[in-house]
Amino acid sequence: RPRVLSLVQPTANSLHLGNYLGALRQWVPLQDEFETFYGVADLHALTVENEPAALTEKTLRAAAQLIAGGVDPDRSTVFVQSHVPEHTQLTWVLSCMTGFGQASRMTQFKDKSSRLGADAANVGLFLYPVLMAADILLYQAERVPVGEDQRQHLELTRDLAGRFNARYGETFVVPEPHILASVGKIMDLTDPTAKMSKTGSPPNGIIELLDPDKANTKKIKSAVTDSDRVITFDEQAKPGVANLLRILSALTGESIESLVAGFEGKGYGDLKGAVADAVVAFAGPFRERTFALMGERTELEKILAAGAERARDVAAGTVRQVYRTIGLLPPG
Ligand code: TYM
Repeated sequence: RPRVLSLVQPTANSLHLGNYLGALRQWVPLQDEFETFYGVADLHALTVENEPAALTEKTLRAAAQLIAGGVDPDRSTVFVQSHVPEHTQLTWVLSCMTGFGQASRMTQFKDKSSRLGADAANVGLFLYPVLMAADILLYQAERVPVGEDQRQHLELTRDLAGRFNARYGETFVVPEPHILASVGKIMDLTDPTAKMSKTGSPPNGIIELLDPDKANTKKIKSAVTDSDRVITFDEQAKPGVANLLRILSALTGESIESLVAGFEGKGYGDLKGAVADAVVAFAGPFRERTFALMGERTELEKILAAGAERARDVAAGTVRQVYRTIGLLPPG
């Protein structure tokens, strides 16, 4: 079966609503058609400073949330990136094929490094998209379900695969992004022109799925909208309302048109109430499943050990082939 791969970073205590709607939720149905590899990008998380014990905990918690969100360890390979050393091995090979200029043009790198300044920004941040390309190419993934913010990194991945294939012969599958327009970019509740982001948004702008219902309800009820009073879907003129409608539509399965029709004559308070109810209805059981899995730590570690073994099987085969192809002397 063709393969799919996607990872999340363990950089926060909880996945946020954008991570879930834009990525994790798309992962679940792909399990029916593809051989799926899903996991936690703990090496990517090293680009920011972490307290060691907290990083360990966040990694486990991220894995638990993937499973709580519908990733089935019986049907998917669930693993932690650092358990598969081939990720860093392929990163080096690919980094030697990536132009300095091309890596410098990655917008996430430019944003983060300009925010931090040249000395605080580390070289890992610069290599981050190359490590991501290695994650994908190691598994010969055909599709990569992510949010809109990862599109440019996927373009780089496709470029590197194409460049390698052109130079050395067909080696890598060139992956396709799997990004849904409707949920690929969930917005910050306090600023509906900016994406909901663990690092960029203020606490009131993000819905953390593991937070108490009350806190999330409060954030939704104070979401920024506009001074108009009519509920219509207009992304340019009414981005706050559009974001709430998208979230509600994704969580309830009801189309935007039908939601808008249903809210005729009603106000923003009604819309926010409905969004809060839908978020709570999802997040409550999600949180319970996550905490239950965290309570079965040995079980979780067993799943990740089995996942690492399966992932290494595939990844080691790719690295062996790549090393041979580029002319590295095989050992003994
Ligand atoms: P990360 O951990 O920042 O985010 C995890 C996933 O959530 C998506 N996402 C969003 N989707 C919709 N609206 C939003 N506001 C929103 N914010 C985040 C992200 O696009 C992502 O799919 N570099 C990646 C992790 C990674 C990866 C990979 C992904 C590492 N290696 C290989 C795919 C394939 C990242 O930082 O995602």
